[in-house]
Amino acid sequence: MPAKLLDGKAASAKVRTQVAKEVRALQAHGISPSLAVVLVGDNPASQVYVRNKEKDCEEVGIRSVGCRLSTDTTQEELLTVVDRLNRDPMVHGILVQLPLPKQIDERAVIAAINPAKDVDAFHPSNVGRIMLDDYDFLPCTPAGIMELLADAGISPAGKECVIIGRSNIVGKPMAMLLLHANGTVTIAHSKTPNLAEVTARADILVSAVGRAGFVTADMVKPGAVVIDVGMNRLESGKLAGDVDFAAVAEKASYITPVPGGVGPMTRAMLLKNTVKAAALRPTNA
Ligand code: GUN
Repeated sequence: MPAKLLDGKAASAKVRTQVAKEVRALQAHGISPSLAVVLVGDNPASQVYVRNKEKDCEEVGIRSVGCRLSTDTTQEELLTVVDRLNRDPMVHGILVQLPLPKQIDERAVIAAINPAKDVDAFHPSNVGRIMLDDYDFLPCTPAGIMELLADAGISPAGKECVIIGRSNIVGKPMAMLLLHANGTVTIAHSKTPNLAEVTARADILVSAVGRAGFVTADMVKPGAVVIDVGMNRLESGKLAGDVDFAAVAEKASYITPVPGGVGPMTRAMLLKNTVKAAALRPTNA
């Protein structure tokens, strides 16, 4: 396998060590960084994600405030909870786990979160600030990918960067971050004709599609850096990325494994955002 592994486990451990240090420094000043994690309903994947986030917090000394609401929660009830957390001076970060049950308007809920506590960076004002390259928080997955690249000494400057996927959570903000790092950026998606031709131009290829085996070796330029955001559960129960790992690893210069690549970086960035929210705490709580 000629490609080197981009080891998210190792790189995220460095981030967590740094975050733990910052938590202790804040605690020495009487501030106990805390994150409220709101889960509505009983989506099994969300339950796992939320449990992991709470465990991660505990490990670095961040206080996590769990908030579990039933599947039939109304939008008004959820907005009341968000409002309470917005005003609580002991809560520095608020994360409402997505997706939300269908009776709730996700956009309205995200817009109701105090932008200074929006550790997902999903609030419209935080999204706008990312576009202007003048932000406090970055969304966790794209930020984690930038950190992983930096950790390996890979600069996007002057490189052809292709992202497959145009979601608000990954594709769009990823494009902005690579652009700000002076990459030449293309966002490809399900309506892109000749996708393999587009992806084969990429020096840095980011796949955020959500289909196992979607990125095959013929779509990859020799020597490319391949970042796999996919987290697909196979029928066997095994976790797989979007990339045909074995074949693409023969062609790429660097590749992220799944699991152990982007996932741990995403989790670490949430902790980084939470400690930053606690340090900034504009309410002076
Ligand atoms: N659901 C899937 N990914 C995410 C995420 O990054 N944040 C939130 N709040 N919900 C999610």
